[in-house]
Amino acid sequence: MTYQGLIQRYKQYLDLPAHTQTISLLEGNTPLIPMPRLGNEFGCELFIKFEGLNPTGSFKDRGMTAAISEAVGRGAQTVICASTGNTAASAAAYAARAGLRSIVLIPEGKVAAGKLAGAIAYGAEVIQIQGSFDDALSLVVEITQKTPIALVNSINPYRIEGQKTSSFEICDVLGSAPDWLCLPVGNAGNITSYWAGFKQYQKGLPRMLGVQAEGAAPLVLGHPVEKPETVATAIRIGKPARGEQALEAAHESNGRIIAVSDAQILDAQRILASEGVWVEPASAAGLAGLIAESAKGSIDAKGKRVVVVCTGHGMKDPSIITESFKSPQVIPARYQALVDLVGS
Ligand code: F0G
Repeated sequence: MTYQGLIQRYKQYLDLPAHTQTISLLEGNTPLIPMPRLGNEFGCELFIKFEGLNPTGSFKDRGMTAAISEAVGRGAQTVICASTGNTAASAAAYAARAGLRSIVLIPEGKVAAGKLAGAIAYGAEVIQIQGSFDDALSLVVEITQKTPIALVNSINPYRIEGQKTSSFEICDVLGSAPDWLCLPVGNAGNITSYWAGFKQYQKGLPRMLGVQAEGAAPLVLGHPVEKPETVATAIRIGKPARGEQALEAAHESNGRIIAVSDAQILDAQRILASEGVWVEPASAAGLAGLIAESAKGSIDAKGKRVVVVCTGHGMKDPSIITESFKSPQVIPARYQALVDLVGS
């Protein structure tokens, strides 16, 4: 049978209410790309779970198909979320598909161009907050407590249900869970979902390496960060809603949550692109973490199977590339000028 989206594929594993009406853009079923050359450097069998290939370009579509399907089924007419960008684009797309009104709150000036454009294109009412993601999240929580508007942030349990499916897919492809799973951590919904998914699927358990950006690392510091700052705007979050569960996942799996610098994140982004996988900065944090831990000797990846989750596509955040990579050169439209530049 042709692929019909992840609710259809994994419905027996998803705790969704009977009123759920499936709204799907055929999300999920993303490739687990072998990275033999890069893996060699760590002596491990390395794979990238490329979540940037979901319909709106990030892993958020997994949770959103579930959250919107449930909201529609219970008769919601408007959905709302706070977002650093990807959740906004995803909520907007699935709401559009379902014929719902969508409202998204984003931190002013801190959302990458491809995400903002997506949210607008899919028809969301985009509201910029003069504050952080954390401020926006408090506002949407309050309004959904006082009005019938449905909340589709990952506080919504159905988001977690949908996002568990990525662990199922990894186990289905590999035949078992990997030894390590490395991924970025922002609001901490995704690490919570992966861990719940691996535990439920019973194909073995990976050790979890959650990676935050140094300027937005509340789970590493052990306290909220009032003014989070990082080039990886997707994970520019100081008070993660599911922080406790993220710490639990790290602890239970005998893994850890670490912080890496913006420079390490951009380095990892460059390395991935040099292997043909272009991801947005936050998405490179998982690899940055693996590189940092291996260099310190605190992860021995040798002979292990390692999956690095790349959560969003590079096209989400094009400006970062022109800022920090080599920019194109300009020449006159003459053959000699071309040869002078590239050599003969
Ligand atoms: N990677 C990307 C590309 C993201 O957009 C996010 C979160 C994360 C990683 C972290 O996942 O929050 O589940 O720990 N983005 C949210 C948003 C906050 O609004 O799009 P998390």
